Amino acid sequence: MTFPPSPSAVLAQVRIALDERSYPIAIGHGLLGDPTTWAGLPAASTALVVTNDTVAPLYLAPLRAALGHHYRRVLEVVLPDGEQHKDWATLNRIFDALLGAGCDRKTVLFALGGGVVGDMTGFAAACYMRGVPFVQVPTTLLAQVDSSVGGKTAINHPLGKNMVGAFYQPARVVCDLDTLRTLPPREFAAGLAEVIKYGPIADMAFLDWIEAQLPSLLARDAQALAHAVRRSCEIKALVVGQDERESGLRAILNFGHTFGHAIEAGLGYGAWLHGEAVGCGMVMGAELSHGLGLVDAAFVARLRRLVEAAGLPVRAPDLGAERWLALMRLDKKSEAGDIRFVVIESPGRAGVRPAPEPLVREVIARCCA
Ligand code: NAD
Ligand code: GLY
Repeated sequence: MTFPPSPSAVLAQVRIALDERSYPIAIGHGLLGDPTTWAGLPAASTALVVTNDTVAPLYLAPLRAALGHHYRRVLEVVLPDGEQHKDWATLNRIFDALLGAGCDRKTVLFALGGGVVGDMTGFAAACYMRGVPFVQVPTTLLAQVDSSVGGKTAINHPLGKNMVGAFYQPARVVCDLDTLRTLPPREFAAGLAEVIKYGPIADMAFLDWIEAQLPSLLARDAQALAHAVRRSCEIKALVVGQDERESGLRAILNFGHTFGHAIEAGLGYGAWLHGEAVGCGMVMGAELSHGLGLVDAAFVARLRRLVEAAGLPVRAPDLGAERWLALMRLDKKSEAGDIRFVVIESPGRAGVRPAPEPLVREVIARCCA
């Protein structure tokens, strides 16, 4: 891995433009432990850092020290690690910490970790005293390119993923690329799935770049990572800026997710990583788009090759067709029981459509191991 030694440096800033809910995404090196990173946030006496028991030993101390320059009290709550803990009981531990320490409605929450910590912290911030400010400090590739940006917050329900939540925007997102050094390879690959996603839905030149730079990305080359995070955030910013609450366009960010969420729920949360399920789900979504006559077989093969080369599964688990369909009907895009899929209308452009059930069954059969 080729990270430079870290004096702090902001390499790029991306802005999410949402009127009074606008905020910056800072992307760079050495940001987390630099007190200047945290200047200019809403004034408060208390900061609460929410993290988990994997990330805390790695990054909690420098973040706490830096925040100590701005807040009289810096508190922490360390949650158990894992998608299986993205639930009511774990969420409640954040409220226990806030109420137990007498935190007022100006308290700023900091989500230090991956998408699980980010989604839960954001939801807690949306609910605590009807809303307190929060800051995303994403430490996984997936969280830096996707989940920390755009204000979707949630916990899982046993019957469906991210089913209980709120749209609630952070005050700031800080992507410290240095944290990606410690990410296990499987988690890194999962993040690449969400990077790859932006190509077929919005920017085929970015897909060309990812293909060409995949060895550099896998080697976690600092420059390649900075570009991947910046471009992903730029595309997400464009989409979220036009459709914050997913009344239409924003659904394209869920390419691969209808199939992917069924894999996650069907196998039990945590069996496949979210990004792994999305990677495989994108191949299924491309197959479906081909079946609808929208893209050619070469496009499907190209995406499958890239997903596989990124270290992600391309064969879906055999849940049984009926269970696949039942799980996908729970998707938030479903309308009156009809499953609606994000499809590739043409390379670089996505849309949302229903699909004939026989075709969906065919795609499931073809893609299952
Ligand atoms: P995650 O939060 O479970 O993190 C992955 C693993 O990496 C965990 O074990 C974590 O403790 C560990 N980890 C985190 N940072 C690390 C680091 N720097 N070094 C070493 N280990 C580290 O998973 P994720 O892939 O980041 O996020 C997936 C979650 O995000 C899912 O729950 C998914 O639903 C959600 N998500 C939300 C959105 C959104 O828009 N809100 C978008 C995509 C995904
Ligand atoms: N990750 C999908 C979205 O933010 O809408």
